[in-house]
Amino acid sequence: MYETLADSRPAAAAPLTLRAMPAYHLTTFGCQMNEHDSERMKGMLESLGYQEADSRTEADLILFNTCSIREKADERFIAHLQEAKGVKRRSPETVIGVGGCWAQSVKDEVFQRFPYVDVAFGPGQVHKLAEFLNSDSLSAQGYFEFEGFTGELPAKRARDFQGWVQISVGCNMKCSYCIVPSTRGREVSRDPQSLVDEVTRLAEDGVSEVTLLGQNVNSYGRDLPKETRITFAELLARIDAIDGIERIRYTSPHPKDMREDVILAHAQLPSLCEHIHLPLQSGSSPILKAMRRTYTRERYMDRVAMIREHVPDCGLTTDIIVGFPGETEADFEQTLEVVEEVGYDQAFTFIYSPRRETDAAELPNQVPHEVGVARMERLVEAVQRRAHERAQRFVGRSLEVLIEGESRTDPGRLRGRSRHNKVVNFNGLGSAGERVMVDITGATSQTLTGEMSLVARATG
Ligand code: 5AD
Ligand code: SF4
Repeated sequence: MYETLADSRPAAAAPLTLRAMPAYHLTTFGCQMNEHDSERMKGMLESLGYQEADSRTEADLILFNTCSIREKADERFIAHLQEAKGVKRRSPETVIGVGGCWAQSVKDEVFQRFPYVDVAFGPGQVHKLAEFLNSDSLSAQGYFEFEGFTGELPAKRARDFQGWVQISVGCNMKCSYCIVPSTRGREVSRDPQSLVDEVTRLAEDGVSEVTLLGQNVNSYGRDLPKETRITFAELLARIDAIDGIERIRYTSPHPKDMREDVILAHAQLPSLCEHIHLPLQSGSSPILKAMRRTYTRERYMDRVAMIREHVPDCGLTTDIIVGFPGETEADFEQTLEVVEEVGYDQAFTFIYSPRRETDAAELPNQVPHEVGVARMERLVEAVQRRAHERAQRFVGRSLEVLIEGESRTDPGRLRGRSRHNKVVNFNGLGSAGERVMVDITGATSQTLTGEMSLVARATG
């Protein structure tokens, strides 16, 4: 479907320079990587003198940071883009910018299909947006070269005490269902010293919890020159040593590269949280092979056993896809068996969605959507039942909770997260960013409840 807008394209950058304080509106879709890129985009825009607008209609610059992981992500975004088109019809000087994975995946046709888009750029290319805004360009601009990590920018963090740090860009895996290798390019690791410096600066700025981001964090460093090359486990140790960093998280590891040194780090480094997100995708080895995951069910279970051996209390979460092409009832039952056996604390479950230019989209035996939906229902039941059972291990214990704000369901209570990444709603006093001890009195599959301990503040 091709779309047109009656007006001819306005001069893109010029009107923005006329206003004392131009305003932007940014909508983010997708993963934490995108959330972080959006923080960098906001930091960059504010250093250029833009302020954030509350709504699209008040903005001179309407931006989207997009995702294309499943068809639903595309559909959601297109609906928002239509709304922006309406704003532009009424105020033709509005500039529309689209960044991220969707933009990258339709790069050859974006301006043809969506002529009201003024600037489009690939994931992480925040500096290209700056280049566009500083140019006098009258024509639409697209920036889609893969460049690795594109420089440190001041990020406007959503929370003062939590920071994201991108340790690598891109992905060298070739999972047959996944659009990411084509939207984010080959894996490029950032220099360890510049990562340590960045985290040190974040700590000095009040950040106590960092989340390290990469498509496959535990292959970190393999592409670095010999003189600076370190492993992911070594990087974790260096970050753990930084004063003021109380919690380290990371996402996502790949089960094939999850080695004992990283698992041991969870047992040994005081700030590395007791939580591992280990994407399973399927419990059937033939399906894993067709997905090109490069591990079998046995190898995955062996990683889980190693985690349970060294860090028995570790929170374990995962991603699972149902309805991959060729998935039989017997394959799906193997996934259910793994779910029963592992007892995940949480699982993100997806119905397979064919993506453009991926090999799986061409496979025979695509599973009918109704079959996918029915499997998903059975999977969610098993995941939730096991998560509920596993969560009972916390009842009666006192857990360290980092306060994030008020409870979403009851503003009289506080909400935070345990080191296991469990949401905890509790009665108590404290402000966002503080770590307190909470006596856990109840647990569902999703959240824990409790009372702040009288011995209160966590030390660390
Ligand atoms: N269809 C369904 N789910 C997908 N994921 C990635 N690609 C697809 C797809 N084509 C899921 C995987 C991944 C998570 C981020 O999204 O489970 O781990
Ligand atoms: Fe993130 Fe993947 Fe979506 Fe890109 S396609 S934003 S990498 S989830």
